[in-house]
Formats: sequence, structure tokens, C-alpha cells
Amino acid sequence: MSTHRKSEVRRISAPDIFQRKGGDPLVALTAYTAPMARLLDDACDLLLVGDSTGMVAHGFSSTVPVTLDMMILHGQAVMRGSRKAMVVIDLPFGSYEANPEAAYGAAVRVMKETGAQGVKVESGPTIPDTIRYLVDRGIPVMGHVGLCPQAVNIDGGFKAKGRTAAERQSVLAQAHAATEAGAFAIVVEGVAESLARGITKAIGAPTFGIGASAGCDGQILVTEDMLGMFEWTPKFVRRYANLASEITRAVGAYAEDVRARRFPAAAETYFNGTGQPPLLEAAPDQRLS
Ligand code: KIV
Repeated sequence: MSTHRKSEVRRISAPDIFQRKGGDPLVALTAYTAPMARLLDDACDLLLVGDSTGMVAHGFSSTVPVTLDMMILHGQAVMRGSRKAMVVIDLPFGSYEANPEAAYGAAVRVMKETGAQGVKVESGPTIPDTIRYLVDRGIPVMGHVGLCPQAVNIDGGFKAKGRTAAERQSVLAQAHAATEAGAFAIVVEGVAESLARGITKAIGAPTFGIGASAGCDGQILVTEDMLGMFEWTPKFVRRYANLASEITRAVGAYAEDVRARRFPAAAETYFNGTGQPPLLEAAPDQRLS
């Protein structure tokens, strides 16, 4: 799947991530495309092809409409663009909840068609059995507890978890169950610091926090959030760039130049040596030479 030569590829594996529990903080970001994966690969231990692509790249208001085919297409692109980080792909809503066999079918497609090293599933009462079923059949699984975006319709919105003692108990139990079932790592999303620290201390798998404090074994963010691609970002996101305003500025300057006939100038134009414009019917490689 990858455009890199085999000898160049030594990806971080699920056991590598598992063994980093309690060690140096793990670094993860989301990626959906090859060029972005290429930019993130060196800095990250793990790239998640998140179903957040539905909201970030496809303009949906939740992750619910995302399909398995969409995840596979994005997964293939991220694999082509990266060579070092472990790549994990979200199983989207509707592809894994029915029973472990359905999850296995979806996960096998992901693994075979993308070459990624694992899948992520969001928590629910039946999910530990599914995690066990997949792991027993050779598929590394990452769990996801706390705020589970695929449950948006049951929860009535994207709501932080652990507001009551019962809810905290339930999130902790889900993290335990996922780890006991064989998950190599757990995403902990949208919970208060005390719960994140409690989970991280209680389970043997490393935790990746998102909106879950510094008390986790590692951190994960949606890349477009931390790059400032959106006007609004949640409180838990730190913006490391302001790409939205930079893109708006650049596009505005381009539009002005085109309208004023300042672009393209001679420096951006191909000539054929006769002072004449290149033949339009020439093949692309001849026009560019
Ligand atoms: O889909 C996603 O991007 C995720 C992260 C928010 C962890 O699940």
C-alpha cells in the first residue's frame, strides 16, 4: 500500500505502544490524507485515522454518517504518507456494534485493504466481547471511553462524561473491561482530571487523553483543531498555529493577483525558447520541460 520501499518501513507496533505505559508521554494526532500524514509522521508515535474525518473533512455534523469505505480510503492515504508511526483506523458507527463477527468482518477489511496496524472502537456494553474476539484473531484494538462521539444521539450532544459518581464508575469499568479484553491502548475523551488519572492508574494499557488532562500516558488531538483550521476550538485544545487566517490571507492575495492580471507573471510561465507560448496540445511532460 505504501509508496515507501519495504526496507525503509519500521513502524511502531501495538506492543511498542503497550510497553510505553507509564514511560515517556505518547504523542498522537489524527490524519486523514497522505500529505498531512507525511507532515505528522516524524513527530508522532501513533496516527489515528479518526472518524472525526466526517466532521472535519466532509462537513457532517457528527461522525454517524461515516462509512467503512470512507475510513478505508482515508486509511490507505495515511499509510501511503507515513512510514514510522503506528496507524490505527476507527471502525465507524454501524460497522461493529451488532456482534463480534460483524466487527471482525469490518476490521479484516480495514487491515487487508489499508495495511494499517489496528482499529479503534468506542465503548458500549457489548464491546469488551468484541475486543476480545478481534484480539484473539490477530487484530490490535484500541478502546475509547468517556465521551464517545458515535453515541451523540443517545447522549443528546457531545457531552463530557463523569459528572456523577455512577457515571465515573461506569467509565472506569469500561476502561477496565476494554483492557482486560486485550486492548493495547485506550483513548480517554472528555473527562475531568481526577477520573483520567484514576483510569490511567488503574489499567495496564496506556491512555491517550483528549480533553482528559495531563494525567494520561499520552495525548491525542484532532490535527485541524490544533492547527487553528476552525474559528472555534474547545477549551482543551491548544492552538499551535492559526492556519485558517493564513489560508484566508493567501487565498485573498491570489484572488487579487488573478483579478489584477498580476498572476501568473513571466517567472511562473513556461516558454518554448522561441518567445512563443508553449503549444497547448503538447503532452504535459513536454510542456513542463
Ligand atoms: O475520531 C477521532 O478523531 C477520535 C479522536 C477524537 C480520539 O476518535
